[in-house]
Parts: sequence; structure tokens; C-alpha cells
Amino acid sequence: MENRSLVTIADHSKEKILYLLEMAKQFELKPNRRLLDGRIVATLFFEPSTRTRLSFETAANRLGARVIGFSDPKATSSSKGETLKDTIKMVSNYADIIVMRHYLEGAARYASEVSDAPIVNAGDGANQHPSQTMLDLYSIYKTQGTLENLNICLVGDLKYGRTVHSLLMAMRHFNPTFFFIAPEELKMPEEYKLYCKKHGIKYFESTEFSEELINKADILYMTRVQRERFTDLMEYERVKNVYILRAKMLENTKPNLRILHPLPRVNEIAYDVDDTPQAYYFQQAKNGLYAREAILCDVLGITLQDIIEDNE
Ligand code: CP
Repeated sequence: MENRSLVTIADHSKEKILYLLEMAKQFELKPNRRLLDGRIVATLFFEPSTRTRLSFETAANRLGARVIGFSDPKATSSSKGETLKDTIKMVSNYADIIVMRHYLEGAARYASEVSDAPIVNAGDGANQHPSQTMLDLYSIYKTQGTLENLNICLVGDLKYGRTVHSLLMAMRHFNPTFFFIAPEELKMPEEYKLYCKKHGIKYFESTEFSEELINKADILYMTRVQRERFTDLMEYERVKNVYILRAKMLENTKPNLRILHPLPRVNEIAYDVDDTPQAYYFQQAKNGLYAREAILCDVLGITLQDIIEDNE
């Protein structure tokens, strides 16, 4: 059987990304459809989540599927020593699709190799978060009217932030200019800078989070410092408050600037930013429902044409 898993956004062509965005648009017009009647979606979350798990489960419910799974691995047999391989083999006996978040980089790829059901990577360590990327792209497209030729500032924890790694890879099709703004300890890893060079993606690096850079941006993508990835908590304490975006820093931005954040935020966006016209992170999270409806359908072989026919 063809493996339809979504492990990394790098596997998707430009055409495939645009196709999934069109599907998401259809779901925004009409979220409730019975396209997954009789299907079982398993959500296996070995790490905490609010948005990703609940929006995937909402997506499954709105499409008529049933949901099984867990959000606390301590309540499963993995706490008795069951391996990831055995867990996945078992769950793929029960479910038509497995949405999995795991703390180990590469866990989703491994699961896709041992599973009889397709795997959707809901985040694997500091590696990838492809469904987040689809909702980020949908949010960028909705707010900018295009994905092409944009100035995108990525700010904060670029070392451990899997959302920025996935977004960078997906944007290779759309001629972006990136500004990587991070302290030395949390710089964009070399492998992603090499990826940029290989794919002709322009990027600049800075440790200063200045208004001059903010004012050049079409998208300001803020990220949380990922406390859970640090082995040395003293190092986390040193960098945790490194950048804080405040409303007064947004006085001279481009009119189309929108602020994205995968959420949860800790303190890197002050609350006074929430009331500015540039703030878009809560709408971004809402877009996750439509993007994830598209992903579930696509992975299960339901096409854009099926969705359009469902409109009739
Ligand atoms: N953006 C994101 O992955 O949020 P959660 O950790 O709440 O799922």
C-alpha cells in the first residue's frame, strides 16, 4: 500500500502545498462534512499539547470520524516499557490514521516505517511540525494574499523550535527572505542554513531584535524559548526573556505586517500586542482546524474534487 504519511513538509511539492491550502479554504467555508464517516483517528501524544491535539480531534469530529488515543503516556503501557514500535503496531490495528507527537527527533519517520496506518507527525522533538506549517502557510496566504517574495522574521528559539524548521523548508518554493533573530545560544542550526544555501533561500542573521528589522517584515514569527529541550536549566534562565515584543515597537511597521506565533506563548509577546491590528496568532490557531481537516482527508485519500462535490 502507498505510504501516505505526513512526516516532514519537505516531502511536499509546491503544487501539493497549494492543493492542501485550497482544501483548507473549502473547509473554512464549510467545516462540518461527513467525509470520514466510519473512520477511526488515533491521537497519540507522548508530549503535552493543547492546540495540535484538540484541533486534530475537532477536525476528526467535524468530519464524522471517531477519535481514540491518549494525551498522557504515563497512563499507557509505554510506562511499563512497551516500545514505540509495539505501540504503533498495536494502534495501527485499531485506527485508520495515527496522529503522533513524540519527544524524539525522527520518531514520526520511524513510526511511519512500522505502522500499517498512515502517520501524521504532530511534532517530533526539535525536528519538524508539518501540520503547524500548513496552518502557518494558510495564515500567511490569507493575510498577505500570496506566499511569494515575503520578508519573514523568525524570532526567538530557532535552535529548538520545530515550527520554524518546518516553515523554512516549506517556504523554499516561494522565494522568501528570512531574518533569523536569535541569541547565540539559540541560533538557527547549521543544517537549516545549509538547506537555505542549497535551495537558494536568502537569509540574514542578527542577535538584535530591532524595530529596524521589524519594519522590514511582512511576517513577524515569534517563538517561545523551549524550556523542555534544555539539558542545562541555568542556560534556559539566561535566555528565557531575551526578546519581548511590545505594542510600542509596532508603530512604523508595513501595513500588511502580521504577527504569528505557534503558541503557547510565555512572555515573548506582551499582552498589549494582542489588541494591535498586526496580531494574528489567535486567528492562526483557528486556521489550524481547517488545515488539519485538509491533512486528515488527504492522508486518507480524499481529494479536493471529493470536497468540491460535497459542496453540491
Ligand atoms: N503550536 C502547537 O504545537 O501548540 P501545542 O503544543 O499546544 O499543540
